[in-house]
Amino acid sequence: MMRTNLLLGAGAVALMAAAATPAEAAGKLTLYCVVDENWCQLMTTEFEKETGIDVAMTRKSSGETYAQVKSEADNPKGDVWWGGTGDPHLQAAEEGLTEAYQSPLNDELHDWALSQYEASGGRTVGIYAGALGFGYNTELLAEKGLEAPKCWADLIKPEFKGEVQMANPNSSGTAYTALATFVQLMGEDEGFDYLKKLHANINQYTKSGSAPIKAAAQGETMVGIVFQHDAVTMKATGAPIAVVSPCEGTGYEIGSMSIIAGARNMEEAEQFYDFALRADVQEKAREAKSYQVPSNKNAEPPPESPKLSDIKLIDYDFAKYGSSDERGRLLKKWDEEVSALPR
Ligand code: G6P
Repeated sequence: MMRTNLLLGAGAVALMAAAATPAEAAGKLTLYCVVDENWCQLMTTEFEKETGIDVAMTRKSSGETYAQVKSEADNPKGDVWWGGTGDPHLQAAEEGLTEAYQSPLNDELHDWALSQYEASGGRTVGIYAGALGFGYNTELLAEKGLEAPKCWADLIKPEFKGEVQMANPNSSGTAYTALATFVQLMGEDEGFDYLKKLHANINQYTKSGSAPIKAAAQGETMVGIVFQHDAVTMKATGAPIAVVSPCEGTGYEIGSMSIIAGARNMEEAEQFYDFALRADVQEKAREAKSYQVPSNKNAEPPPESPKLSDIKLIDYDFAKYGSSDERGRLLKKWDEEVSALPR
C-alpha cells in the first residue's frame, strides 16, 4: 500500500514536472509592435496561446521604434520589431541594428516582400503592403459644402485650410511615406513646394500615422492623410469616412519585420518571425479589422483590402528612400523648411 502511494506520488511529481517544463522552457519575447493596437494584441495573444512564450509587447510608431532600437543598441531590450513601414527597417539594417535571419517560410512570400530581404542582406522582410491615400469625413464635407477631394492637389486648396491632418514624418512611417511619395511623384523641389502649401492647411501633425483618420472618424478633422487600409478600417467601424486613392497616383509601404541585433531571446525571436510569416496567421489580421495585403502568397487578402492592382502606384524606390542618408536628409529638410513655417 505504502509502496503504491509512493509510486503514485513519484508519478504525480513527474507529471507536474512534465507540465511545468514546456512553460518554463518556452521563455519570453519582447515585441516592438508597429501596427494598429488591436492587431498587436491579437498577434501577442495568438503567439502566446500557441507557444506558451510570454510576450511583453509595446506599440509605437515606425520612426519612434527605429530611434528606440538605435538608442538601445549597446544594450538591446527588444527582440522582434514587427510591422510599420519598411523604410526605417532598411535604415536599421544598413546601420547593423538588426540581425539577418533566413526563414523557411521565405519560399511562400511575394517578390515585393523578398525584395526587402534582398535589399537588406536578410535583415528585414516584408509582412504586408498597403497604398497611401487619404480619407475624409463625408458629413463634415457636406456641412461645409465642399466638393469631394479626389487628388493630392485638392488638399492644398484654400477651402481646405485647417481641415487636413497628417502625422509627423519623424515619428511616423505613414507620414514619411507621404513625404517620400511627394518627392518621387512631383520631383524634390515641387514636392517640397507641395508640402509647404499643405502645411498651411494642416491643423495638427500627430505622432502616429493612423491617428488622423481616427480623428476624422470622430469628426475632429475633415481629412486625414493615411494608408488607404486605415481609412477602410474606420469605414468598417461604421464611421462616415470615404477612402480616396489620389488621382495623380500614390506611393505605398512594404510593412516589414526585423530581429533586433543582440536580441536576448534569439530563439523565441526566430519562432515569432516564422509564425508571423505563416499564411493562417497573416489571415487573422482581418479579425483585428486590419486590411493590409498579406506577404504570404497563400494568404487570402481580406475582401475589404484596397486592391493594389486598381491603384495608380508609383515605382517607389524603397532602397533609396530607406537609406540612412536619404531618410535623414529628407527629414531634416522637412523640419527646417516645412514644419518651421508659421501656419
Ligand atoms: C498603421 C498602418 C500600417 C502602418 C503603420 C505605420 O498601423 O495600418 O500599415 O505600417 O500604421 O505606423 P506609423 O505610426 O509609423 O505611421
